[in-house]
Amino acid sequence: MITVIANLKGGAGKSTVTFNLALWLLMMGQKVITYDLDPQSTLQDLARVRYEEGVTPVLIVKGLNEIHGKLNEQLAMHNGHVLIDVGSANMDGMKEAISIADRVIIPVPPSQPDIWATQRFLHIIDEATNNKTPELFAFVNRADTHIAVRESDEAEEALNMLGNLNVVRHRLCQRTSFRRSLSEGLSVFELAPRSKGAEEFYDLAQALHPELALNNII
Ligand SMILES: Nc1ncnc2c1ncn2[C@@H]1O[C@H](COP(=O)(O)OP(=O)(O)OP(=O)(O)O)[C@@H](O)[C@H]1O
Ligand SMILES: [Mg+2]
Repeated sequence: MITVIANLKGGAGKSTVTFNLALWLLMMGQKVITYDLDPQSTLQDLARVRYEEGVTPVLIVKGLNEIHGKLNEQLAMHNGHVLIDVGSANMDGMKEAISIADRVIIPVPPSQPDIWATQRFLHIIDEATNNKTPELFAFVNRADTHIAVRESDEAEEALNMLGNLNVVRHRLCQRTSFRRSLSEGLSVFELAPRSKGAEEFYDLAQALHPELALNNII
């Protein structure tokens, strides 16, 4: 299955989600390879930190310099899960990845500019995929931890109005554990297994992959 994690705006959480989801899938016994099509190479840096620190499982990340020829021909070599992290710094790569994706996961911070950007991004997805539309999933990332703050509810409502989009109701809040996860090259559940961030990520991952949910396996 080819999953693209993307959105137009920077800092939405694409690399955070790709990194943590890849490690969650590995933990669930799945075969995973990731592609970092963003020239910032965050995923590659994270994989390097893990390698230097001797952390397992090893995360396989293919960078832009390892793509030869057409992406779909290269991806056809892999079975299992292919996760692709790509941002607006590489629009051609983003459109090519979306055109062959089975699903696109869209992290959306709870702000009006992010909703507008997501709306534009959906048009780009439409243009990039003429016959086969991937399944689209969006969820709120960087939600306020304070339940009295209504922005995340409003963002979800706005996402629901955008149409052809599965709005996953499991949010990731703005938490230190997610920030530290990227700084230390550890998934949030390796870093702080009992943290609220880890709990939120498990819920999100299981909602995205109900076929792998723990209660389906036990
Ligand atoms: N839920 C969260 N809580 C706290 N910090 C977060 C959360 N999600 C992302 N961040 C932090 O925000 C920053 C941007 O996140 P990330 O790099 O995942 O976004 P991105 O969409 O990949 O950005 P870019 O467009 O620059 O590639 C990082 O420092 C990350 O640690
Ligand atoms: Mg990134």
